[in-house]
Parts: sequence; C-alpha cells; structure tokens
Amino acid sequence: DIMKDLMGLSQLQDKVKEKLGIKKVILVPGSFEKNNSLLTDVAKYGAEYFLNTLKDGDTVSLTGGSTMLEFANCIKSDKKYNSITVVPARGSMGKDVQMQSNNIVSIVSNKLNSQYKLLNIPDELGEKAMKTLIQEPEIKRTLDYIEKTNVLVFGIGRADEMAKRRKLPSERIKEINSKGAVGEAFGYYFNKNGDIVYKLNTVGIDLDAFRNGRETIAIFAGARKAEAFIAISKINKNIALVTDEESAYRILELL
Ligand code: G3H
Repeated sequence: DIMKDLMGLSQLQDKVKEKLGIKKVILVPGSFEKNNSLLTDVAKYGAEYFLNTLKDGDTVSLTGGSTMLEFANCIKSDKKYNSITVVPARGSMGKDVQMQSNNIVSIVSNKLNSQYKLLNIPDELGEKAMKTLIQEPEIKRTLDYIEKTNVLVFGIGRADEMAKRRKLPSERIKEINSKGAVGEAFGYYFNKNGDIVYKLNTVGIDLDAFRNGRETIAIFAGARKAEAFIAISKINKNIALVTDEESAYRILELL
C-alpha cells in the first residue's frame, strides 16, 4: 500500500493525532489482527506512558477487560506511590474474575505500592438495589474517589461484541444496534457521533469525570475497534491513545 510505504511510524502518529484532534498517539509497529501477541506490546507502551504521567496525590481509575489486564501485568516499577489511590472506574463484578476492574486495580496498586479502593458492585443491578448499595459507606467512599479521577486508563469495545459478551437479552442487543451504537467504554454505548445511546445500570465514572481528568489514556489493539475509538474520541480531546499501527491506518481510512 502506497500510503504505508511513504509514512514512517512517527509521521503516522502525528497524522492520526491531528486528524482525531486528540492530545497524543502512541503506536506499536505491526498489526494486532495478524499477530495477537502485539497486545502485550500495546499494553507495555501504555504502562510506560501511564507511569510517566503519575503525580503525587493522583486518583487513578481503571476499567476492566483483557486489554486492561494485560496493561496491569505489564506495569514495572520499583517506586513507592504512597500518595496515589487506585480505584475501579465502575462496578464490575461480572463472570470473569480476572478481567474485572477490581482485580486490575489490585494488580496495579500492588505493583505501585499505592493505596486502593475496590467497588464491590455488580456490573448491572436493579434500580432499587443500586440506590441502597450506593449509600453503603465503603461504596460511597470509592465513588467519591472515582469522581475525583485525575488519571483514567480504559479499554474500548465494539458495541456488538460487548453486548454479546455481557450476555444482554436479545431484545436489548437489538435496541443497542438499532440506536446505532458502535463503541463501548466504562458501561456506556456510543454512536458514531459520540452520543451515549445506551447505558448499563451501574455506578462509577460519569461523563464529567471522564472529560475532566488530567490524563485520559485509551488502550486498544485491533483495527476492528477503530470505529469504536473514533466515536469515543468525539467527546473528549484530552486523550492519549495507545494502539497498533494497523489500527492507526484504519482510523485514517475511516475519517
Ligand atoms: O469496555 C471495553 C472492554 O472492556 C474491552 O475489553 O479489552 O477485553 O477487548 P477487551
């Protein structure tokens, strides 16, 4: 492909950054779709960037998923971050314990020697149960931290894949699709314009906290998620994106 031959990686980073209008783009050479082990490199670059952005007193929010689990496993640090608190970006007790944000928080805070707070709330709850739970002091404390998020690191999903993975009833999957959802992040489903078209009944980070953080780091591998990321980038330009080269080309194709 002519464009690929002409463009070096750093030029590609600049081009994608400019096209999306976001703060930073960090690319791992290669294609995740062709080589799935690239997820580790993407996670590693993400972990390095994350460590460089940390400041004393930060509140760090992390989401769940396989990408974020790899991110957690890739963190390497000898420093002690006593003044930092790590929290899950939202409730997450689903079926896969490993990929839950609570587990990711626990791995990361262990490696940072930081403080942490967990959020022992299921992925989705009935209205009434939710209202009761969020009044629990321990849960309230964590939610207060989430609201003060300075640094958010999050994974991105395709709306169709996430609806299936969450085993939503087929009626709701239809509803999400019919509303044009393309992307999912922290329990919100976004359409192409970045409008929220569906939201899980869960607690955690809201759009204000998402927009107001000092550092917002999105990590994804795989061109199939490019459209989902573009949607989310529409509502917050203060994002540092870490992804693979192929995904960067796909973003340019779609814009
Ligand atoms: O919300 C997005 C998903 O958590 C992404 O999950 O990293 O396993 O694809 P994944």
